[in-house]
Amino acid sequence: MNPLELEQRADRLLLTLRKKPGVYFKISVLERALKLDKLGVVEALAEIKKWGYKIRTRPDAVAFIKAPDSLTPTEIGYRLKTGTIGRTIVSYRSVKSTNDLAAELAQSSAGEGTVVTAEEQTKGRGRLGRKWHSPPGTGIYASIVLKPGFKPENAPGLSVMTAVALADAVKKFCGGDVRIKWPNDVLINGKKTAGILTELTADKDKIDYVIIGVGINVNQGTGNFHEELKNIATSLRRVNRRKVNRVKLFKTFLVNFENEYKNYTRHQLKKAHGRIRKYSSLIGHEIKIQLGRRLIEGKVVDIDATGRLILECEGKKVPVIAGEVTVVKE
Ligand code: BTN
Repeated sequence: MNPLELEQRADRLLLTLRKKPGVYFKISVLERALKLDKLGVVEALAEIKKWGYKIRTRPDAVAFIKAPDSLTPTEIGYRLKTGTIGRTIVSYRSVKSTNDLAAELAQSSAGEGTVVTAEEQTKGRGRLGRKWHSPPGTGIYASIVLKPGFKPENAPGLSVMTAVALADAVKKFCGGDVRIKWPNDVLINGKKTAGILTELTADKDKIDYVIIGVGINVNQGTGNFHEELKNIATSLRRVNRRKVNRVKLFKTFLVNFENEYKNYTRHQLKKAHGRIRKYSSLIGHEIKIQLGRRLIEGKVVDIDATGRLILECEGKKVPVIAGEVTVVKE
């Protein structure tokens, strides 16, 4: 039997078994339901086990017990409640950067909502040319292809919008204090847990595609963080003191992302504005911000409905579109 045929059989068997987790299905019943002989069912079962699924067997029956926490199209796509985001999922074990792969796909055939994931990145990239440490099997490293109809000047808010979707998802899975450090770092108890790298390809008045890259520290233990990151970064596992299911967290994020994106295309940040303010780690704090070559200092008094940081400097209100923030006074 060719490998593709085996994979398809295993997929069909898996879908049947997981409809009733823990319930034993007679092999003879599965043979009839899937139009296979006994050997066909046994081979498909062996394949499913190889993928990491926990299956319990009796001499004449089998039961689905547990799915692996792997970022595969099968797991992410299983009962995923989205319309476009994640309808196509491409997953790799190891890549240089999911953003690069997503961009390659976007240039060829990939449509809006295509998701690229990897278990490991060997050259994960952060903002401002930084590295994004991406050890295997512990974090979520993913990129989403967008092909929006709006003009390039409306793209900057996409990062802030993504941060809100991410913060809402992280909050659901973690007991700590979840905040957004403007524009798009997600913090738990003051330490960075997730980051967003938005890359845009456009000409003067038309967006070609946008890649939204998301990195989430999920199950990294203390030992997984480089020395220089230990005090400024954390993971959901470190905060909760137990592992978090990456697949469930990622699916929650995709559903949130789709809702936020729909709202964004119609109303920009208007619907997210309340949560942008509520999650802000900066409002009320004195900060320094690097704006190109200028360093300005002031108190953050608000984030406006277009996602700009409003700084009070020497009695004047200064709106800031983008920049690298350092907190001066907590
Ligand atoms: C940052 O906070 O500096 C942004 C980090 C973004 C990391 C993600 S991981 C998936 C995607 N691929 C990359 O190379 N980077 C982004």
